[in-house]
Amino acid sequence: MIPGPIDPPARLLMGPGPISAYPSVLRAMSAPLVGQYDPFMTATMAETQELYRGVWNTRNEATLLIDGTSRAGIEAAIVSLVRPGDRVLVPVFGRFGHLLAEIAERALAEVHTIEAPWGQVFPTSAIEEAIVRVKPTLLALVQGDTSTTMNQPLDEIGEICRRHGVLFYTDATASLGGNAFDADEWGLDAATAGLQKCLGGPSGSAPITLSPCAVEVVRSRARIEAGIREPGDPTASDFVRSNYFDLGMILDYWGPRRLNHHTEATTMLYGARECARVMMLEGRDAVIARHEVAGRAMLAGVQALGLSVFGDIAHKMNNVVAVEIPEGVPGDTARAALLEDFGIEIGTSFGPLHGRVWRIGTMGFNARHDAVLTTLAALEAVLRRFGAAVPAGGGVEAAADVYRAAA
Ligand SMILES: Cc1ncc(COP(=O)(O)O)c(C=O)c1O
Repeated sequence: MIPGPIDPPARLLMGPGPISAYPSVLRAMSAPLVGQYDPFMTATMAETQELYRGVWNTRNEATLLIDGTSRAGIEAAIVSLVRPGDRVLVPVFGRFGHLLAEIAERALAEVHTIEAPWGQVFPTSAIEEAIVRVKPTLLALVQGDTSTTMNQPLDEIGEICRRHGVLFYTDATASLGGNAFDADEWGLDAATAGLQKCLGGPSGSAPITLSPCAVEVVRSRARIEAGIREPGDPTASDFVRSNYFDLGMILDYWGPRRLNHHTEATTMLYGARECARVMMLEGRDAVIARHEVAGRAMLAGVQALGLSVFGDIAHKMNNVVAVEIPEGVPGDTARAALLEDFGIEIGTSFGPLHGRVWRIGTMGFNARHDAVLTTLAALEAVLRRFGAAVPAGGGVEAAADVYRAAA
């Protein structure tokens, strides 16, 4: 029996990502393919690089896409910047800090971690103190950790790294596009993201930007694979231990040499280009402000429904909130009811928060007035069905008030 053509149900994805893509992103992804070195393709790659310089707020020439989900970007950055035995410092304040440490360990780094309780961020002084003690080559720090919803302030960290001769990398997968990000001003050497959060696309492409200093490290480890290597190409003895994620070869693919390293994922390129185009057309600051208002409206709404919010609200990302599941409400069953009856998806949680909180996102295409109000109305109905005492219409009204005040 051959299954029918793909026909997904209508869903409003209001979890911590993936979220519903902008319709224009889906349209862009149905555009016809062209060849890998078609002038249209190379021009599209160059346009995409320039659009992402806008998204990252950077002048970095080395701004491009890694084919793969967000962790492909993370892995490319870490494996290319870290030599075996290098010390890497990872401040961990949620699941994704553990992921950075895990990837650095697999790159044979000497990994040092410091930990903040889930629901909090690090004071800058704690990170500086650890840098002084550990003397790492690289600081790897998540900006927004979706597992806890926290947004680590980064604005003072770059200057500290510069003073101590440390490369500064951040994973901005969950935060880019919905929260302030200033790659150059904050002194970042490397930053990576994904499309499936505030950028409003599907997962499968990882935007990355590298400072000239990071490019120098990558270039010092240059090795081009046999078969496409040319006489005079350098072959460093401490070459990057991954072929797919070797940023040196990937830079040469995106650069004037157009090294035939991999076959660019054309459809993802179209999608990534459209995500950035949508953002730059609306305006970077306007998009962040839209996320800020949607996040504030959702926060006011869940609080007005009587739900307790997890973590330090002052450091919450704009685009996701974690709410404690009320006593007596079966978390997974209620989430399933929201999906089945309303077509709305919200998120469960990991680690110490599993079964304790739901995570509700307002990002990308869904950082929208109607999406916020619809989700709150449905949540209210489901909570009441499972026995929680919730004020009628309270969540929707509180969120609508935020929107009215912001208008
Ligand atoms: C902060 C952060 N880093 C990394 C990832 C991993 O992303 P992916 O599943 O696209 O590889 C996620 C996914 O939620 C994330 O939120």
